[in-house]
Amino acid sequence: MLLAGGLVAIPTETVYGLGADATQGAAVAAIFEAKGRPRFNPLICHVCDRAMAEATGVFDPVARRLADAFWPGPLTIVLPLAAESGIHPLTLGGLTTVALRMPQGIARDVIAGVGRPVAAPSANRSGKVSPTTAAHVARSLGDRIDLILDAGPAVVGLESTIVMPVPGKIVLLRAGGITADDIEAALGLAVVRPEAGAAIQSPGQLASHYAPHGQVRLDALSVRPGEWLLKFGRRAVEGEGAAAGIIDLSPAGDLREAASNLFAALTLLDRPDVAEIAVMPIPETGLGEAINDRLRRAAAPRG
Ligand code: TXA
Ligand code: MG
Repeated sequence: MLLAGGLVAIPTETVYGLGADATQGAAVAAIFEAKGRPRFNPLICHVCDRAMAEATGVFDPVARRLADAFWPGPLTIVLPLAAESGIHPLTLGGLTTVALRMPQGIARDVIAGVGRPVAAPSANRSGKVSPTTAAHVARSLGDRIDLILDAGPAVVGLESTIVMPVPGKIVLLRAGGITADDIEAALGLAVVRPEAGAAIQSPGQLASHYAPHGQVRLDALSVRPGEWLLKFGRRAVEGEGAAAGIIDLSPAGDLREAASNLFAALTLLDRPDVAEIAVMPIPETGLGEAINDRLRRAAAPRG
């Protein structure tokens, strides 16, 4: 189906992706159409092995060490596009760089079967919550795509970490399933956040994203009557008894568990009758950086 130019939702360890053959312009155009995604926002190209990766992007020694340490896995590396990559320009949104990721599991087998890089954004309508189950994909895109592969819930639950190696350091373009600490420890290089207004950016990092119907209120230490509560840890919150409902992202206060539950919780609460969602503070350490990034976007004013 992918070789014929179709759209296939593919499970990865992070979230479900909406896949198309990255070398076919019409197939890639269909991704943007199905998601309602702005054309300037480039897609990640997924590869099955190092040979396919090196035929698509130009690797320097640091990029090779990143791939050695974290592939297959939830790390996306932004590199200069290789000369004969075959990637259709639409995939790259006009950029001369390519974002490459080698996913784990079934996704990798699918790419190997296709024999070419597979472009895949998260399989949600643009601006909405990313899908961690096949049912989530069916709900938002079911009538717009050709096939959904169901491999159960995504294990990591947050999208990949996106990095770009530059001389002497690594720029973190999106916090995700691999923490900045993991990368610093594995490579012995500093991971830096881009400065506001810097030239190197991920075009898709818009302020409002992951938006459920209701308003999201962060760092809540108390609940107002009628609000839903997203808890983290067992600590009681003032006014809990008056909450419309409670979802605990991790009763044990474990960031990995909270990450894997976050999008399912936001999807569950994405209903017209849920007007307000209060979220308890979540530590900004480790995976907390990516969790808080997604929550801040969910809470941002809608554009
Ligand atoms: O875990 C993931 O990364 C999932 C699974 C399906 O692999 N994919 C995903 O794709 O999250 P998407 O399209 O939802 O987010 C990709 C992000 C966007 O913010 C996009 O702007 C950025 O990657 N991106 C893509 N190509 C880029 C490039 N060449 N330079 C900088 N950012 C890039
Ligand atoms: Mg996305």
